[in-house]
Amino acid sequence: SQIVPPELVKTLRTAQRVTVLTGAGISAESGLPTFRDPMTGLWEKYRPEDLATPQAFRRNPRLVWEWYAWRRELVSQATPNAGHRALVTIEQHIPEFMLVTQNVDSLHQQAGSQRVIELHGNIRRTKCFDENVVVENREESEEVPPRCPRCGGMLRPDVVWFGESLPAQAFQTAVEAAVHADVFFAIGTSGTVEPAASLARVAQRFGATVVILNLDVKPLEAPPLYHINGRAGIVLPALVHAAWPE
Ligand code: APR
Repeated sequence: SQIVPPELVKTLRTAQRVTVLTGAGISAESGLPTFRDPMTGLWEKYRPEDLATPQAFRRNPRLVWEWYAWRRELVSQATPNAGHRALVTIEQHIPEFMLVTQNVDSLHQQAGSQRVIELHGNIRRTKCFDENVVVENREESEEVPPRCPRCGGMLRPDVVWFGESLPAQAFQTAVEAAVHADVFFAIGTSGTVEPAASLARVAQRFGATVVILNLDVKPLEAPPLYHINGRAGIVLPALVHAAWPE
């Protein structure tokens, strides 16, 4: 399995505050498509401007609702993988741990992670497009998209679309967790979508050890910066086993 830098293992063992940012890559081994992987990424097959913007929803609410219903179905069949589970173990060993995710698939919560910040919302939650408040997901209603029980407006997935702002409290908490981190991991994210992508730089600027774990990085061991090339489902369990042998 992937050899984890011994220096990083030592740092992790004594760390008090660990912040992790995850992206679609950590759910890839659960069978969920990422967005930008060559060939398989969702944005290789679909155009975000047709499916993941408020304008797209206004233009074609049925198409957008059904695309997210399809993704919700994929998510409902996925289960957490060894990478998700390894993050639960790290959380159990670190006094102050924060998991900030861009993912909307609930797999971190399903794996048992307690302190999870969802920067981009959650695909299982539904909200009224007009009132912007969460409502019960009325999948069973024959209308597509279903209507808000209160105002009759269209329902939409409670996820952050391009051009929309992140939940303010969630992002504020994420920035604080990056500022105060001793160790900051960016796992399975292409680091292309702001403002989530800026969190690693914030952590670095405030003196954290920064670990970028991805399939497409060239390995680098230059404490306090590490680039580890490998699958999250392999590397994270190896890191946990090295730091806290059973
Ligand atoms: N282990 C580790 N990394 C992986 C794995 C894996 N098994 N599989 C893929 N990756 C990496 C890819 O190399 C890529 O860099 O995960 C990254 C996934 O990047 P994206 O598909 O761009 O996903 P993400 O970074 O989460 O996208 C950010 O963009 O579309 C919006 O709101 C959406 O939250 C999403 C945001």
